[in-house]
Amino acid sequence: MTLITSNINKAIELLDNEDVVAIPTETVYGLAGNIYSDKALKKIYALKKRPSYNPLIVHIKSISDLNLVACEVPNKALKLADAFWPGPLTLILKKQPTISDIVTAGKPTVAVRIPNHPVALELLKKLDYPVAAPSANPFTSISPTTAQHVFDFFDSELKLILEGGSCSKGVESTIVGFKDDEVILYRHGSTSIEAIEKVIGKVKIFTNDDVTPDAPGMLKKHYSPKTRIIISDSIEESMKLHSSKKIGLLLFNTENVGLKVECLEILSKESNLEEAASNLYAALHRLDKCNLDLIIAEKFPNKGQGKTINDRLDRAAN
Ligand code: TXA
Ligand code: MG
Repeated sequence: MTLITSNINKAIELLDNEDVVAIPTETVYGLAGNIYSDKALKKIYALKKRPSYNPLIVHIKSISDLNLVACEVPNKALKLADAFWPGPLTLILKKQPTISDIVTAGKPTVAVRIPNHPVALELLKKLDYPVAAPSANPFTSISPTTAQHVFDFFDSELKLILEGGSCSKGVESTIVGFKDDEVILYRHGSTSIEAIEKVIGKVKIFTNDDVTPDAPGMLKKHYSPKTRIIISDSIEESMKLHSSKKIGLLLFNTENVGLKVECLEILSKESNLEEAASNLYAALHRLDKCNLDLIIAEKFPNKGQGKTINDRLDRAAN
């Protein structure tokens, strides 16, 4: 039996017992465990069926806790933490020796952020330790933005899901690392590159299609629905090409709504990219339940959250 509850003390009880619980954040729900418990950490990997080379993100409650986790923090990292925490920006920093190899997948670095969700923050403040929390989905599937999505994935394998409503941002945190004086973007996410560049200047975008890249969130196939998905510059053309199929459409706005399809998802009637990002995963989860042959997704404008949406759709389509 899985308990879906807003009772934080129940979650603490399980976490203190080295168990794993799902928690809400402003980006997506996470599968949380005590960073000092190997038992909890191993359970996170097992539940997610996550390969052991893919490290976890550590969630802390305040900037003053950063030195528990990381050392030799560059100036630009501090500037970014000041500007965006609590919030959807993850920093890759040199790890403290006390941070387990299970958290970092053996890397000398650790990923860390402060989530901006009242329930997550209250939980972190009441715990005596930070939590590691990857997105609460099986490896390569779509991240969950509601407690129900988490439940649909794990059912009774998970004892408790902490209820926190729909995630306001709806896509994962942006991940950046630091090399010499450079800031490197490892994953597009809910903090736009434009906003980051306002704080620290030019960001270099990491590109690498290796099997075990520096940031496995950059794996080519990721964030995938079960239904085949293609991305299209011209929705009408693509629909003609696949006219014999049962099609679902994933659209930015109302421009193409006249087209007749089985299932239709419009991410933002007002053409607002942030609203579209917040609705993306929930729409993909719904489309995946429509028994379609094909999802045709519109290509989004390549700016701000549009870049993150295009990145996720590209990986989902791969
Ligand atoms: O918004 C988010 O970041 C959510 C919520 C729950 O906080 N978490 C999340 O975690 O998306 P996850 O595990 O699904 O993605 C973490 C990404 C992975 O792609 C992993 O490869 C990368 O962070 N990562 C973790 N530690 C790293 C490190 N030391 N170096 C490079 N990449 C790292
Ligand atoms: Mg993930």
